Amino acid sequence: MLTLQEKLSATTTYLKNKGIGDVDIALILGSGLGELAEEVTDTVIVPYSEIPHFPVSTVVGHAGQLVYGTLSGKKVLAMQGRFHYYEGNPMDVVIYPVRVFAKMGVESLLVTNAAGGVNEAFHAGDLMLITDHINFIGENPLMGANDDEIGPRFPDMSEAYTKGYQDLAREVAKTLGVTLQEGVYLANSGPSYETPAEIRMARVLGASAVGMSTVPEVIAAAHAGMKVLGISCITNLAAGMQSELNHAEVVATTERVKEDFKRLVKAILEKM
Ligand code: HPA
Repeated sequence: MLTLQEKLSATTTYLKNKGIGDVDIALILGSGLGELAEEVTDTVIVPYSEIPHFPVSTVVGHAGQLVYGTLSGKKVLAMQGRFHYYEGNPMDVVIYPVRVFAKMGVESLLVTNAAGGVNEAFHAGDLMLITDHINFIGENPLMGANDDEIGPRFPDMSEAYTKGYQDLAREVAKTLGVTLQEGVYLANSGPSYETPAEIRMARVLGASAVGMSTVPEVIAAAHAGMKVLGISCITNLAAGMQSELNHAEVVATTERVKEDFKRLVKAILEKM
């Protein structure tokens, strides 16, 4: 059986041979937000299914490919579609792409997602800067043997979301006139949405938004010493705050706000 480092080497060698060179920023594009990758120029596109040891995504609204190229003057490597725990993926699969980025020497990660608004001042369609997270998934992606080549056994999570990037995002949003809410993102495993009682609990715990992703990838990024910027698209108000929840609304909201989202992310990338 191959070791993790042997798998990572095979994956990164394959990507390098495909023409993926230096990367300034890796992007993980969440539900409905993958369209940003269509604006990348001088692209190398590699479907996940062709990449050795890379998992394959199954969720509607996720394209399932890596897009490398130039965006806002930066060399980016974008994941169009991510791997969720609720799909039945073990955690090491969920975070494998982040480990690939780290192995390639990528130092910055911009991660996005669709989330339910818990903060009563939020509206569907708001964008939210993630200032911190709460891992409520019930598992930590770093459980098991630690690979010291990647990072320490007990990684510090004091600044999982890089403060300098947060300042930059606030500043850029202000310049563009885009309202940027901010708060703590709480991740549940999904795939069921939360109950109203769980949302009241999340609010008491200090969460402003809830979702089913991002936290594993950010823990893996912090483990590898990467700098992280996180942005949520508040696609709906969370359970109990509106009459019902459904995936169609999540998709419709990302569709409605994607222009602002893309404008904001591109302007931030320019200055990262
Ligand atoms: N809960 C969890 N995940 C989500 C939600 C939600 O309300 N909206 C979009 N992703």
